[in-house]
Amino acid sequence: MTGRWQRVCRVEEVPAGRPVGRIVGESDRVCVVDRGDGEYVAMLDRCPHRDVALSDGVVRDGTLVCPGHFWCFDLATGERTDLPERGATVYRTRVVDGWVEAELPPPPSRRSIREWLLSEARARSGQPADG
Ligand code: FES
Repeated sequence: MTGRWQRVCRVEEVPAGRPVGRIVGESDRVCVVDRGDGEYVAMLDRCPHRDVALSDGVVRDGTLVCPGHFWCFDLATGERTDLPERGATVYRTRVVDGWVEAELPPPPSRRSIREWLLSEARARSGQPADG
């Protein structure tokens, strides 16, 4: 699935060693971290454990530590350092004209109430959803 590149913040807004949280578009919460090696990391600004902003966390030794319960995420991979299968959601990043951009997932499709009611009725009657 191809995402959409979105500007998140200017590079000068991301101090070394401190995560920055931004709302992108209508409601995408994105946390950006300057890894200190010329690369920026962008991730969903929501801990996979609870709904705590990772941008309120602490950067330490190549990791981002969640302020909720101190889960520690590798800034290169997003994996939880002691339990890799419980990683943070990391987005591809690039810098364009001084902006940190992240490739965010496509927005969920919006259906009208009529389309939703029709698909529900079809699903309950056993018809294909778009038939
Ligand atoms: S909310 Fe992040 S570790 Fe619990």
